[in-house]
Amino acid sequence: MRVDEALIDKVRTSVDIVDIIGEYVQLKKQGRNYFGLCPFHSEKSPSFSVSPEKQIFHCFGCGVGGNVYSFLMEIEGYNFPEAVYHLGEKVGISVPRQEDQIYNNKNNKTDQLYRGMDLLTKFYHYLLTETAHGKTAMQYLTKRGFSRATIDHFQIGYAPSAWETVTRFLERRKVPLKDFVEIGMLSTRDFDGKVFDRFRHRVMFPITDMKGRTVAFAGRVLDDQKPKYLNSPESNIFHKGRLLFGYHSARQAIKKKNEVVLFEGYADVIQAYQAGVDNGVASMGTSLTDEQAGILTRNAEKIIICYDSDSAGTEAAFRAAEMLKGYNRSIRIARMPQGMDPDEYIQKFGDEQFRHSVLGASLTVMAFKMQYLRRKRNMNDEGDRLRYIETVLREISELPQAVERDHYLRQLSDEFSISLEALKQQQYQIYRQLKSKGKMGTENANVKLLPKNRTLLPAHLMAERQLLAHMMRDADVALEVRDKVGAGFYSDIHEALAAHLYAYYEEGRQPDVASFIQRLEDAELKAAATEVAMMEVNEQATAQEIEDCIMMINHHRLEELIRQKEIERKEAERANDLEKATDILAEIISMKKGLGRN
Ligand code: CTP
Ligand code: MN
Repeated sequence: MRVDEALIDKVRTSVDIVDIIGEYVQLKKQGRNYFGLCPFHSEKSPSFSVSPEKQIFHCFGCGVGGNVYSFLMEIEGYNFPEAVYHLGEKVGISVPRQEDQIYNNKNNKTDQLYRGMDLLTKFYHYLLTETAHGKTAMQYLTKRGFSRATIDHFQIGYAPSAWETVTRFLERRKVPLKDFVEIGMLSTRDFDGKVFDRFRHRVMFPITDMKGRTVAFAGRVLDDQKPKYLNSPESNIFHKGRLLFGYHSARQAIKKKNEVVLFEGYADVIQAYQAGVDNGVASMGTSLTDEQAGILTRNAEKIIICYDSDSAGTEAAFRAAEMLKGYNRSIRIARMPQGMDPDEYIQKFGDEQFRHSVLGASLTVMAFKMQYLRRKRNMNDEGDRLRYIETVLREISELPQAVERDHYLRQLSDEFSISLEALKQQQYQIYRQLKSKGKMGTENANVKLLPKNRTLLPAHLMAERQLLAHMMRDADVALEVRDKVGAGFYSDIHEALAAHLYAYYEEGRQPDVASFIQRLEDAELKAAATEVAMMEVNEQATAQEIEDCIMMINHHRLEELIRQKEIERKEAERANDLEKATDILAEIISMKKGLGRN
């Protein structure tokens, strides 16, 4: 089941890793490499780097790394042949597809779940759009203003009223029913255990994961019944807090615009999409989680929170803004007239006005807070006014940037005709108070996450790494090290890397970090290799540098050996085996000569 090696190389070398990773992560060039927020762990400052020269990536924060295939395997969950296949597809190189790549592993329960959910998505959509069963649901959706194209785009479907439509469908498709009871698509009757459809007479919204696979459904009633939505429960394949509704299909647009719009509900995302806002996602009515904040901030520099304009939505918008602060992203809050949600607004005022007067007029979090705080107060009442100013100054004190603080202080000063100096003084006092009470929570979030400090490694390990870094770039260095150090590396991982490098060059290959890493099968080795490859070393190592590293390694090995021998000698002396002790001493002396001491 192996893909031809020449083909693997051909596909890999026909892409630039920066472009591929750039589809998932916002990358910024900094010196020779590109940096961004790591998609594999939650972080607020970028420690994820991509090297265009070496065609590899590495995260200094969590240690993942490898070439373009490793990246795709990690982020898309592909196995190796899948990664080659999909990348090949992208660049128009045809890679023979392995039979058992997708959903075909009959023994793998998760694969079967994905397969079944995929079948169900298509089935519900078909029932809605092509059959008489779906007629009322179709009318309902049309009345809500959803076009056929939109319904197709989101694969919206319909679950009919009968009790066993889906049960029978899944049975015919040989999908294990009990697994679908487990993930809440089917139920069992209490008294005889008979299986039946859990979703009936509902509009079905498929919820996809980061890879676009359906992992859950939300079923909406067609009238005002409560509860409005019946949702798939959390399961092995569905973790509500780790995904955002609509993310997969909006991903490209989010990247391209470098902006994402965050809604509360399915209906908002869908209606907004139809209004030309193709970079919207929804948090699905629950508080934003860390993982969701990570997805948003990794993919765009500007995040517009567009929650319902009722009091629950406003509170939720504040909380979401709070979650997103500290990621060094531009966060905005968009508002509609009191009580409206985006879906209603678009239907009432149209696409243009939504894009311009709502999204286009979104406010910074601070400006939104000021507006919000004003609403409940009477600015003609002196007491109310002073309390308002004090509250705003408190908020201003929490802003991390001086220019921002200055901006809002000026605004206050203009609005209430108070001298800027007086406001500044008062704000500073508040800042001191907050600080002494330890309430300045924002500061820590802005502390840069330092990469693991590798310079703290012991000198001999540092030398090993440096040597390996040069060996990766230069075959001659590798051959010299093979002769002078061989398997004498102190760290097992380094020794393994060296052995792989010797073998690599012995096959007559040219230095090529990405291709070398490709050959390493072990994930830990791969990660170590990328880390070494990303080290900043002089491109052209001088002979002296190499010599120094080799000496340091060999000396260290000798010192370790001598230490070992000293222990043996003492033991021999204790056991009164003077002959042995003398022999060992002779060995020690000759070794010390090797170190240039005696
Ligand atoms: N929600 C839910 N279960 C409910 C109610 C709400 O899961 N019983 C979640 C859904 O993700 C929903 C979001 O909260 O999309 C926002 O709720 P709401 O605004 O009430 O729903 P809409 O998506 O706006 O639906 P509609 O416009 O059809 O009423
Ligand atoms: Mn709504």
